[in-house]
Amino acid sequence: MAPSKNKEKPKRLIAFLEDQKTTDAIKEGLRETSIENSEVFQGGVKEAIEFFSHNRSPQYLIIDISKSDLPISDLSKLSEVCEPGVSVLAIGVRNDVGLYRDLMKLGIMEYLVKPLFAEIISRALKSMIFGDEGDKTSKTKLGKIITVQGARGGVGTSFLTTNLAAILANERFRRVIVVDMDIHFGTVTLYFNLKSNDGLNAALEDPERVDQLFLERLFIAVNERLNVLSSEVPINEIKNYSQNSIEQLLSYLSKLFHYVIVDIPHNFDEAAGFILQRSNVRILITEASLAGLRDSGRIIRYFGEDQLNHRLILVLNKFVKEGKGKLFPEDFENTLKRKVDHLIPYEVSINNELIDAGKTILEVDTPLTRPIQELANNIQGIKNEEKVINSIWNLFKR
Ligand SMILES: Nc1ncnc2c1ncn2[C@@H]1O[C@H](COP(=O)(O)OP(=O)(O)O)[C@@H](O)[C@H]1O
Ligand SMILES: [Mg+2]
Repeated sequence: MAPSKNKEKPKRLIAFLEDQKTTDAIKEGLRETSIENSEVFQGGVKEAIEFFSHNRSPQYLIIDISKSDLPISDLSKLSEVCEPGVSVLAIGVRNDVGLYRDLMKLGIMEYLVKPLFAEIISRALKSMIFGDEGDKTSKTKLGKIITVQGARGGVGTSFLTTNLAAILANERFRRVIVVDMDIHFGTVTLYFNLKSNDGLNAALEDPERVDQLFLERLFIAVNERLNVLSSEVPINEIKNYSQNSIEQLLSYLSKLFHYVIVDIPHNFDEAAGFILQRSNVRILITEASLAGLRDSGRIIRYFGEDQLNHRLILVLNKFVKEGKGKLFPEDFENTLKRKVDHLIPYEVSINNELIDAGKTILEVDTPLTRPIQELANNIQGIKNEEKVINSIWNLFKR
């Protein structure tokens, strides 16, 4: 394939509209914008939810909320099935400040009140497109970058990565991609019972070639909401990916997925270091051993503690109460001067039952299901005392 620079996907817009007058105004307004590809459907939020449960999202969505009695709750349901990078323009009949404020809180770009004229529409669309290209001023919500890193090898990093991803995608209905940064020995595809391609390496090796279409062909699908990006580079080939290619990859992925979950290899390199620094949530996994304690401490000192929008979650995995030289959560807390956020027990049945069959925690009910669901809650910002409800605020807190 010839290298391509700045080759972007053609801008696509879908509109769900309730009446002919608005449809005419929108069609006319669209002529003055750079959107090449648009489709208008009859309907409102309900029809849009049905449509996007089976179809990919466009960059731009116009949605008529005039027939919706509970527009905020309906739109939050719509956000569940749409990709996070979609810019939404809402249209309705109610002209009240409270509604406007709530719509903005949901991440809707603009709200226009009927009757509409082509001029108003084209102005709103242009500012939406401009906001997107100007990036910094864009209100488009981006997916979160979650890194999962082991203090040592074998502590359960890839096991927890794949299971968290499965919970967020299959139980919480989010769009998720797992990026396996262990390009030589990664086990993510193995744990999902899939065969790896050279996708991740192809995406990082030659950033000039990467655009959204190119990237999407590299994903390995576990199911329609859960994808993997990995590779199996020959073990003697050392790669030094540039910070630029990592940045570019993360920026594309966070527009396509609600969660970009990155499995960081134990012997992390510079590229993994960039991702750790760039992540919204860092999950550090350790085992209850002296070496685990020492290495957790070293990693926390190096990458720093909790920060706003750069949270650190410490997980003690494979925990057993008895055993020689065993450490306890209190030993970690006293030495590291911080909380152990999650304690996950050792479960004998795991190895054979799950891994060999490429099954996740959700498919086989084990004593580990609940603790791993609680970790998923923490990522989503859901308090663990609360019931796991897909309440509207939880959805948008992501
Ligand atoms: N809580 C647990 N109980 C029992 N076995 C576990 C648990 N967590 C992980 N394992 C097992 O430990 C092994 C190593 O896990 P893995 O995720 O591949 O480690 P890492 O990625 O940290 O090197 C796997 O066989 C996995 O099934
Ligand atoms: Mg691993």
